[in-house]
Amino acid sequence: MNSNHVVVVTRKLPEAVEERLRRDYVPRLNPDDRLYTADELLALSDGADAIMPCHTEKLTADVIVRLPASVRAIANFSVGVDHVDLNAARDRGIVVTNTPDVLSDATAEIAMLCLLGAARRASEGERLVRSRKWKDWSPAFMVGLQITGKRLGIIGMGRVGQVVARRARGFGMQVHYHNRRRIDPALEQGATYHASLDDMLPLCSVLSLNCPATPETIGLMDSRRIGLLPDGAIVVNTARGALVDDDALIAALRSGKLYAAGLDVYNNEPEIHPEYRELNNTFLLPHIGSATRETRDAMGFRALDNLDAIFAGREPQDRVA
Ligand code: DGY
Repeated sequence: MNSNHVVVVTRKLPEAVEERLRRDYVPRLNPDDRLYTADELLALSDGADAIMPCHTEKLTADVIVRLPASVRAIANFSVGVDHVDLNAARDRGIVVTNTPDVLSDATAEIAMLCLLGAARRASEGERLVRSRKWKDWSPAFMVGLQITGKRLGIIGMGRVGQVVARRARGFGMQVHYHNRRRIDPALEQGATYHASLDDMLPLCSVLSLNCPATPETIGLMDSRRIGLLPDGAIVVNTARGALVDDDALIAALRSGKLYAAGLDVYNNEPEIHPEYRELNNTFLLPHIGSATRETRDAMGFRALDNLDAIFAGREPQDRVA
């Protein structure tokens, strides 16, 4: 397909994705990969038919009402859509899509990395080696937690959660999960469903957050729920920082209530709560869950498939509003 539709692309995308954009659309690319302010994005959207944003652009209700009337679609280069006010988009008749499925494997890999990094004190160990402070080996040196045979609780047994469950089973973990609804038992592969999160938390040696940030889940892991975890548990978050009350998590990491946390996402990224950096029992990554070549290409192509459908008058496969 080849159209004259103008697409504002907010960040630098993989070359193959930009090539397809140039072939099929009139893209307004961002070769310098600069983070646009809301006003810049609005100015760039003048006369555009669609916007292809990432989670780094906050499309609040205020921004959406100010978008030019020409904008018919927001095709996100992300599975998460918490950066878009979906109700405001619906009110304006703007179609919004995301990119599910294609990043589940990559994100689950990072969840396992966070889990292992936190359990086996990977940050501490790496720092020791790099700083030349590693002097000796002894039976008591750098002893961490073994995850084999431990119980993993997953909050959010969607696409990513299910892959995390499979990977964790490969490590001999027993999987439990909490979800709004029980998933098809054929997909559970032995995982135990808990309708009540409060009932599941006391069982979790490791807790992995894999649900989207919605009004229902924002602040989910507050001090009360962290308090329900067994002493010495590990918290892994590769979903969204907003699921966690930072002060509560940091207090639990400081007091030893929690053994460690493995985090790839944070409130207010990249200006994260400074105490995370100070703690030895945190394993911290910079929101790289989907950051593989294969996945970033696939995310771009999926977003373009959605745009192609919208402009061809078809229903896009990943419509969220
Ligand atoms: C997503 O797709 O939601 C990832 O967090 C990257 O934005």
